Formats: sequence, structure tokens, C-alpha cells
Amino acid sequence: MTRLNTLSTLLAGLVLGALISLVAWTAFAGRGARMTRRAGEERQEAAGSQETAVAVLETIRQRRTVRSYQATPVPDEELLAILDAARYAPTAGNQQPWRFLVIRDRDKLERLKGQALEWYLERVRSSPNSAQHDIESIRSSAEQALEGALSAPVYVAVLVDTEAPHSRYVVYDGALAAANLMIAARALGYGTGFFTTFFPEEQMKVFFGIPDHYALICFTPIGVPEEWPEMPAKKELAELVVFESFEE
Ligand SMILES: Cc1cc2nc3c(=O)[nH]c(=O)nc-3n(C[C@H](O)[C@H](O)[C@H](O)COP(=O)(O)O)c2cc1C
Repeated sequence: MTRLNTLSTLLAGLVLGALISLVAWTAFAGRGARMTRRAGEERQEAAGSQETAVAVLETIRQRRTVRSYQATPVPDEELLAILDAARYAPTAGNQQPWRFLVIRDRDKLERLKGQALEWYLERVRSSPNSAQHDIESIRSSAEQALEGALSAPVYVAVLVDTEAPHSRYVVYDGALAAANLMIAARALGYGTGFFTTFFPEEQMKVFFGIPDHYALICFTPIGVPEEWPEMPAKKELAELVVFESFEE
């Protein structure tokens, strides 16, 4: 009797346990399915319309480095929208170490043109093989390049604070913001350029009075292109993508 009692208690326990597990599993599985469905719906909502997706991808594809501009001004609200897009870029630890120095003063830009030429020629003259250079022809092509590079109505120096908490990542943070800025500008019909060569960091910091603890990521124009350049050769996707492993 006692054994029977024990056995039936055990059986009842097992059945109850199984029932509880079943109910719990059904609830969990149901919740899982609901979650999956909700996540799917959210993804669709977040993805926006097919047209938006196509437009974003096309804007990314059509962004070009533009090296000559029309003088057409960029309205303030568009400039601010472009800068606003930059600040949504990801950053290490969300540190957002940026400063965006905006320059629209034509006189200052003209002075920069002269300075940039001198900085460049100085670099050429002090390079080890300077004797082989035809300085006059280099001067003339640099002058021409600078004429185009500094023809836009607006410039942004993308800066990052090297004293930010995750200082070793500030260059990535800066480059990502610059990319956002360039894509946003393209969406609004403007060209940009990640300019570095003619605008060396140390000299630019002195020229614009930029505090020492900032690093210059790039100096980009924003403006209506003289003409949109052809897309330069881009590597095929298959050359760049590796699925799962480099090992065969
Ligand atoms: C780190 C970096 C430095 C660059 N420096 C210059 C530069 O000094 N002058 C310039 O005209 N373009 C510069 N570029 C722009 C590239 O030349 C340009 O992105 C490349 O030729 C591809 O053209 P696309 O931007 O139209 O696709 C730079 C780009 C990067 C990412």
C-alpha cells in the first residue's frame, strides 16, 4: 500500500511536471514565434519602403570625390542637415569625439589656396629626390588642382578630440562621420571630397587656430559639382568578400 502510494505520488509528480513543462514550453515557443514575427515586422518597418532602400543604396553608389565646384551657395538648412547626418555615425563607446569646423569665408579660402600651394611646394622641395623635380611644372599643376579643390562655397574640417576616452579609436570615429557627411551631401545633390594631400594637419591647425588636442581627419568641400565625375574603377565584390574563412 505504502509502495503503491509512493508510486502513484511519483507518477502524479511526473505527469504534473510534464504538464508544467508542456505549458511552459508552449508559452515560450509561442512567445518565441511572436517575437520572431514582431522582429520580422519591425525589420520591415525599419527597412522602410523599397523605394527608400533603393534610393539610399543608389546615393551611396553615386557619391563621388568632386575636385571642381560651382559657386552656388549651400543653404544653411541643407548644410545643417548634412552635418546632422555626420553625428549619427557610430563611435567607440559612443564617445562622439567630433568637431566640425565650417568655413565659408571666401577671403580665408583664397588665403588658404596660396598657403596650401606653399606647403605643398615646400614638401616637394624638401623631398629626397627634389633635384629630379621640375618645380615649375609641379607648381602649375598644383595651382590648377587647388583652384578646383577650393572652388566650393563651403568646407568642413572634420576634427576629432584625441583626448576622448577611447583615444585609439578617434580616427575611425572621424572617418565614419566623414562618410555619413559625404553620403548625406550626395543625397542632397552635393559633391564632397576626402581631401588630405594639400591640407596637412599641422599647418591647417595653425592656419585655422585649431586647438592642439584635435586631429584633422579630412578637409571636405560641399558644393554643386562643376560636373559629376565618372565613377572610377571599383574592384568587383567577389574580389573583396570572403565567406566564412580564408582557408579552402
Ligand atoms: C584617406 C583618404 C585620403 C584621400 N585624399 C585625397 C586627396 O588628398 N585629394 C583628393 O583629391 N582625393 C583624396 N581622396 C579621395 C580618393 O581619391 C577617392 O575617394 C578615390 O579616388 C575614389 O573615388 P570616389 O570617392 O569618387 O569613389 C582621399 C580618400 C581617402 C579615403
